[in-house]
Amino acid sequence: MKTTSKSWNRRKFLEFMGRTAAVGAVAGVGLPSLSALSGLSRAKAAKSAEGRLPFKSLKPQISDQVVLADGFMHEILIRFDDVINSKGERFGFNNDFINFVELNGKNDLLLWVNHEYTSHLLVSGLTEEDLKAGRKTKDQAIREQDTVGGSILRVKRGKDGRFAVVKNDPLNRRITGRTPIPMIVDRPIQGTKTAIGTISNCAGGKTPWGTFLTCEENYDGSYGEAHFAPDGTRTLTPSWADGWETYFPYPPEHYGWVVEVEPKTGAAKKLTGLGRFCHECATTVRAKSGMPVVYTGDDANDEFIYKFISKEKNSLERGTLYVADTVNGRWLPLDLEQDARLKKAFKDQTELLIRTREAARIVGATPQDRPEDVGIDPATGAVLVALTNNKKKGNFHGSLLKIEEKGGDYGSLDFKASTFLAGGTATGFSCPDNMAFDLKGNLWITSDISGSSIGKNEYTPFGNNGLFYVPLSGPEAGKVFQVASAPKEAELTGPCFSPDGRTLFLSVQHPGEESPSLDALTSHWPDGGSSKPTPAVIQISGPALDALIGAKA
Ligand code: FEO
Ligand code: CA
Ligand code: CA
Repeated sequence: MKTTSKSWNRRKFLEFMGRTAAVGAVAGVGLPSLSALSGLSRAKAAKSAEGRLPFKSLKPQISDQVVLADGFMHEILIRFDDVINSKGERFGFNNDFINFVELNGKNDLLLWVNHEYTSHLLVSGLTEEDLKAGRKTKDQAIREQDTVGGSILRVKRGKDGRFAVVKNDPLNRRITGRTPIPMIVDRPIQGTKTAIGTISNCAGGKTPWGTFLTCEENYDGSYGEAHFAPDGTRTLTPSWADGWETYFPYPPEHYGWVVEVEPKTGAAKKLTGLGRFCHECATTVRAKSGMPVVYTGDDANDEFIYKFISKEKNSLERGTLYVADTVNGRWLPLDLEQDARLKKAFKDQTELLIRTREAARIVGATPQDRPEDVGIDPATGAVLVALTNNKKKGNFHGSLLKIEEKGGDYGSLDFKASTFLAGGTATGFSCPDNMAFDLKGNLWITSDISGSSIGKNEYTPFGNNGLFYVPLSGPEAGKVFQVASAPKEAELTGPCFSPDGRTLFLSVQHPGEESPSLDALTSHWPDGGSSKPTPAVIQISGPALDALIGAKA
């Protein structure tokens, strides 16, 4: 939706323009734009953003296509079920977070892609009725487990400027719902320090030492959840989506963690110190002390924003987890040894970490409206948190929250919180989810209106989900321009710019996810006709993107 100056909420505009460059050098990682931005002054960026944008904002769309504003083009990089290596491993389902490390310069990358969840219909051919009747077989459960986790792919740019997957490259591999993964933890959890598989891999991050972080979000949809009575008695509730516990009764406590993956070997470990909840993302920066700091949100109604301050310079295995009190601007430690209330409630720190949400409530953390991605504004160093919505509280369109750490130090325990940008018809976007910054430091956001809500009631004006460009400097600063629209019921996720900024990798996740049966598919993207909808990673490029970042074609 095009935003006019008339429709722009003045109060929000003033808040937005309150951005200052007070925070010191940004030592962020996982955002390819950051290093490229060093030396780029705000004044220069503003100058380059002057004048008209090189594209016209898309109007909301309802078609079953990836629709792009003029001046952008896209093509599919890889899609579900493509074979990626000589072992016959296949690209997983519902691709989400994307990041990379450079292998040999800017055009030869090792890409990480999350696979958030499976589909009983599109992977196993089972309807809701089939599930209720217990018709999922063990083999089907195994097949589904193989479609989640993450993929590591070598991609190279050809002479035509486009990236392609290097088929059968020895570095191509899958980590799945069946891969044994050690947990970095003080003591065994339910009798072991090894979990089977990583699941619900939503967003993530990259560390300063070049490893990927993949976040386990809605883990209780696969193996259920463990609940604890005040006397410590443990009970289990069943999963709400996959029912894998029928054949594989793995402890729910083995999921809901942040997982660190070494790109070249695929070696993975679950970092229990960052807490256990519906982790959306893990955005890593360095405190002034040089220690890594990870911001991570719990994407559920009235859950919390956390940060982890490591005790080791190039590791996230030991450190302190804090939760945000955004009313008073304080990070509250979730450490048994620092809080008698926590010591009384949990038998040890591992127990506290397993039950992080309970600990956060005990210390008085501030409930949030579903924290999704966390981004670091490369010009100001401010921490932006996408609060996607909280329908129960009447917040349908969400906002971006700005956290400014005291003294510009990510290691600080004091901060100021304010609204950066609000969703709604005035701005033209709803339900912000992922964020990325381009080479000019401007913001790109994706929206996640749930498939069942798209085009209905409060969401009617927004059409399908989209990708939006938000200039952060120049005359259009703070306005929201739509660049891409997703196919039916899909979400565009994991935006990730190539090192030269001229390609945007983007996931098209869950097209047609409301389909009731294979005979009544609601999307046929990307093949059209009567084909099954298929999640895929696309690459977006074009003269408009080049112009936005000042790249020469
Ligand atoms: Fe998987 Fe909160 O998005
Ligand atoms: Ca998300
Ligand atoms: Ca989401």
